[in-house]
Amino acid sequence: AAALLLWASLGYLLGSIPFGMVLARVMNLGNLREIGSGNIGATNVLRTGNKTAAALTLLLDAGKGALAVLLARAFAGEDAAQLAAVTAMLGHCYPVWLGFKGGKGVATFLGIMLAYAWPVGLACCAAWLVAALSTRTSSMGAIAAAAFCTMFLLLFGFGTALIMGIILTVLVMWRHRANITRIRAGTEPRIGQKG
Ligand code: G3P
Repeated sequence: AAALLLWASLGYLLGSIPFGMVLARVMNLGNLREIGSGNIGATNVLRTGNKTAAALTLLLDAGKGALAVLLARAFAGEDAAQLAAVTAMLGHCYPVWLGFKGGKGVATFLGIMLAYAWPVGLACCAAWLVAALSTRTSSMGAIAAAAFCTMFLLLFGFGTALIMGIILTVLVMWRHRANITRIRAGTEPRIGQKG
């Protein structure tokens, strides 16, 4: 139990590092809260016009999720890995450092799935790509990747991670509720648009 608590905490701490916010500040791209959706993720960093910063945000936000899973698994096993996956997502979405107002968890979710079960991760990335590129809307990619995640887990034989998958899916969907409202209203901006 002590080990699980430790990995839950480390997962949260890793997840809570707001790389988009840090990069935007270090690279002088302005205040993400006043740009586009106000979100701290790669999609909104891209709205500053800096593709390098956006790519770095994507990689680092995905990397922290992957790292949480891989470290927890290596040191404490499967249950710790699943727990760290969930707390890393909670850390990204609700970071104590930003008054619990964090991101939408898409990059972190994809990083987690790639590290947890790479075939599932790749399938989720593919779902993101197909939905996002066909609609040119980042949030559509996120919604598709999350929606298909549990199906991919079952399909590739990772049914033991179903609860984890459902929690992550619900989190991604919940964090996209403003995007979903905009999609329904037809006002969700295309990728790269200021919004
Ligand atoms: O990275 C989150 C993405 O799915 C939506 O971001 O800034 O368009 O709300 P944003």
